[in-house]
Amino acid sequence: MAQEKSVAVSDFLSKAELIKQGAEARVYRSEFLGKSAIVKERFPKRYRHPVLDERLTHRRTVQEVRAILRCRRAGISTPVVYFVDYTSHCIFLEEIMGSLTVRDHIASIQQSDSCKEQELEHLAECVGHILAKMHDEDVIHGDLTTSNMLLRHGLEDGESSLVLIDFGLSYISALPEDKGVDLYVLEKAFLSTHPNTETLFDKLLKSYRASSKKSSAVIKKLDEVRLRGRKRSMVG
Ligand SMILES: Nc1ncnc2c1ncn2[C@@H]1O[C@H](COP(=O)(O)OP(=O)(O)OP(=O)(O)O)[C@@H](O)[C@H]1O
Ligand SMILES: [Mg+2]
Repeated sequence: MAQEKSVAVSDFLSKAELIKQGAEARVYRSEFLGKSAIVKERFPKRYRHPVLDERLTHRRTVQEVRAILRCRRAGISTPVVYFVDYTSHCIFLEEIMGSLTVRDHIASIQQSDSCKEQELEHLAECVGHILAKMHDEDVIHGDLTTSNMLLRHGLEDGESSLVLIDFGLSYISALPEDKGVDLYVLEKAFLSTHPNTETLFDKLLKSYRASSKKSSAVIKKLDEVRLRGRKRSMVG
């Protein structure tokens, strides 16, 4: 039975359009029950022991679905989960139509002649706000980068809205330390992906601080983690 199901999914995926081949997962675009869908398939890694690999892959699939549902329950924008197949480790998600990653959006604004500073600041504030909401629900993303945030173009008002994706490394924790590390990971990724954005990232943190009920303990931990990082790099 399990095998039959798996064959059905792989047959389905052979007709889907591959949009990203990563180290851990393949991402496809397809249709699911008449809706535009994204399928994320976590494939087996030959270099890992099969039992361990199966366990890890299963855990990431479960974590991703769990975090998405928890966020959605709290009104935080993430794609709808249409279907999960735990045999082939596939998650079928709502496709955020016409979206682009925050990474590509920032890069294109920075490259344009008239760098729209205000637009960037507004975006940074939105990111700070959505992450504060996510952390207030005790969801730790685990892989915060600007590639794991999508911008959905608003249909009515022309305003874009943020959608969080890629929760495979997420977990639930109320500890300020875990939230601080989550922000530290983003800070590192943000500043190395987008040059000269220190003040922009400060705007993001300011908005996080204003939006989260428990931000002061988290920012304190962020400062500690930064200091630890600096000491480590000084030692070499
Ligand atoms: N629901 C979605 N709607 C539209 N595009 C999506 C959606 N989910 C993913 N994408 C696109 O596919 C890309 C990769 O998706 P995702 O980040 O989930 O996988 P990944 O980065 O390969 O995962 P991993 O971190 O395990 O390597 C995204 O950057 C985005 O461009
Ligand atoms: Mg990703």
